[in-house]
Amino acid sequence: MPKLAQRMSRARPSAIMAVAEKAKALKAQGRDIISFTIGVPNFLPGEHVYAAARDALAKDSGQYGTNRGPDALLDGMLKHLRECGVEGYERKHLCTGVGNKHVLFNVMYALLEEGDEVLIPTPYWTTYVDICDILGATATLLHCPPEQDYKLKPAQIAAAVGPKTKILLFNNPSNPTGMVYTPAEVQALADELVKHDVWVLSDDIYNRMIFDGIPYAHLLNARPELRDRIIVLDSVSKTYGMPGWRVGFAAGPEAVAKALVSLNSNHITNLPEVVIAAAQAAYDGPQDIPKQKAVEFQSKRDEVLAAFAKIPGVKCPKPAGAFYAFPDISVAFGRSWKGTKIANDVDFCNALLEATGVAVVPGSAFGEPRAIRISYTCKPAELTEGLRRIQQFFGELA
Ligand SMILES: Cc1ncc(COP(=O)(O)O)c(C=O)c1O
Repeated sequence: MPKLAQRMSRARPSAIMAVAEKAKALKAQGRDIISFTIGVPNFLPGEHVYAAARDALAKDSGQYGTNRGPDALLDGMLKHLRECGVEGYERKHLCTGVGNKHVLFNVMYALLEEGDEVLIPTPYWTTYVDICDILGATATLLHCPPEQDYKLKPAQIAAAVGPKTKILLFNNPSNPTGMVYTPAEVQALADELVKHDVWVLSDDIYNRMIFDGIPYAHLLNARPELRDRIIVLDSVSKTYGMPGWRVGFAAGPEAVAKALVSLNSNHITNLPEVVIAAAQAAYDGPQDIPKQKAVEFQSKRDEVLAAFAKIPGVKCPKPAGAFYAFPDISVAFGRSWKGTKIANDVDFCNALLEATGVAVVPGSAFGEPRAIRISYTCKPAELTEGLRRIQQFFGELA
């Protein structure tokens, strides 16, 4: 067989999916499994979204669409940005794609040369590093340990930027930690970023999932002169409970949007009509679902924090957004469960799954091996039971 491209030796499947698949396989064998693994919102969009999709199907044009995305969808995305306080973009600054992940890949493809450096606050969403690897860029990890609430500090940027640095990735609220930067923290980061000629990819996918009345602050508003180097990434996946519909977009300088349109024209061509209609209905329709879900997730977050607070030695910096908690469980390292030693996060997750049927993702998948990620969007009864089993598991460690 002829060879695959060299770059494919650096491509790997998502570590999160591997744990989720293991939990699924055990469930199929009849085990009582509670999965806190995949970051899916676990709610469906409103009926208006399905009605719009059915309508589009009935009117199907059967034609190709535009590479950038139709005006009405772009207008819906612009409205969403304005509702999040991100003003000043026009259609020419946008390009759609098959979810945030696809758009992110295209943005990084459009910006990076082999050997360029990407600064990634760590813990990070796994895909950031995976895309760097595929593209031959260097992922430089900026460690933000639990002791600093998993948040990036301006001095870390100042110390890390070098001649090869091309991009800083910024995800607020964060996957996997659920951390939300306060307006003062965003301001301090923006004040540092203006000093450096570096692209900033602002992954805003959880921008409607913020708790405790914390205002959503954006780098763009903190220092408007960053506009020529910030690229905002977003999608319908988390906000509207539509991860499977695969609609995302980037907003940024016109030249970047144009580059993304060119990539689309040689790649996906366009988003499907039915999918476009559904996404447009989500953006244009009632906005009560994301608001209700943020309230629901806040109370689930409280339940998760209360459960971990009862486990001696476990520290869980308080998440204020998204739907993840990222407790530091390193107190379990060196202990054992039924004679099996737990040396690290992967051992911990395997033992927890084996002992209790609760699946969580090892923190090392996100660059922080002292922690585990809990995605808590499951049914309330499952959450309560899963947390009870985790507490019991800690109690049984020798
Ligand atoms: C931080 C972050 N960015 C991007 C994505 C990808 O989202 P999409 O479904 O729009 O591709 C995810 C999904 O988990 C995410 O957590």
